[in-house]
Amino acid sequence: MIFTLTINPCLDRYIYVDELILDDTIRAKKVVDYPAGKGIDVSRVIKELGGVSIAIALVGGNNGRRLEEMLDKEGVIYSSIRVPQETRLNIILESNKGQYRISMPGEKINVKKLQVVLEVLSALVRHNDIVVVSGSLPKGVASEFYTGIIFTLKQWGATVYFDADGDKLKAGLIGQPDYIKPNLHEFQRLIGKHISKREEIISEARNIVEIHELKGILLTLGGEGAYFISKEKVLYTRTIKVNVKSAVGAGDSFLAGFVMKKAEGASDEEALRWANAAGTAAVMTPGTRLCRRADVERLLDKVEIEVIE
Ligand SMILES: Nc1ncnc2c1ncn2[C@@H]1O[C@H](COP(=O)(O)OP(=O)(O)OP(=O)(O)O)[C@@H](O)[C@H]1O
Ligand SMILES: [Mg+2]
Repeated sequence: MIFTLTINPCLDRYIYVDELILDDTIRAKKVVDYPAGKGIDVSRVIKELGGVSIAIALVGGNNGRRLEEMLDKEGVIYSSIRVPQETRLNIILESNKGQYRISMPGEKINVKKLQVVLEVLSALVRHNDIVVVSGSLPKGVASEFYTGIIFTLKQWGATVYFDADGDKLKAGLIGQPDYIKPNLHEFQRLIGKHISKREEIISEARNIVEIHELKGILLTLGGEGAYFISKEKVLYTRTIKVNVKSAVGAGDSFLAGFVMKKAEGASDEEALRWANAAGTAAVMTPGTRLCRRADVERLLDKVEIEVIE
């Protein structure tokens, strides 16, 4: 089974207005909510692509209930861990001139709840299961939480995919995940230097693979393609030219495509093909909307995989 873990999910609320006018009542034309948070995104994409996963998430309050409702509607299987704190809300005011994005402050989580996360994982995760650990952490939770969680999952014999930024990425790597999916900015922050040339990217990624004994790095470069880099192999896939509506969730869609195909026993090449198709399909949809299966399937034939090594 594939599990995703989202410790800090949120709810994206799009409010559509004609125009934002100061000191006037603005009538909303439409309000649309989307569940969000990186692990939840991965689970939603896996569902969209016809796969099955279980999203484990910390949720609270009315926003948390709304999030569960939407996952129910989409048919995403989840196991929620209830916390007294309200799940974060992002308000996106979408007018014909552009959008304002307002992120509500998150509340501090009681660290004792983190013990429950471990209990739930221990009850569900079995040898050879796959766990996608990703995203930010709530206030009050140190980055080292990821070290412990990943280390423990590995001890249990799970395959761990990890996607986080900054100190969290560094801390998680100490727990020795199998795969990481940084974008180039995150990767540069990890190694502490700016890189751009292909040779530099490959040699720096190889170095990280070796130090942390990774099975592979999925390094995405936004519109500039993506690499799969392991000890033995370097694959590159070019970005497909499409009409870009919103890059939100592209990385999560990419990761979901890769994880789902690998779980089905596909090769790294085939999994990367699905990853690129899913990432590309995600940028074709507006706002928080992730990829659509029909777009992914249509794009698969257009994806080229270059075997560099
Ligand atoms: N401009 C684009 N055109 C086509 N495809 C794109 C574009 N930007 C991103 N993608 C697709 O999405 C994948 C992931 O993109 P990106 O590197 O932006 O991820 P990310 O920064 O991790 O995103 P996220 O914000 O979801 O974490 C790319 O490898 C590609 O398949
Ligand atoms: Mg990302």
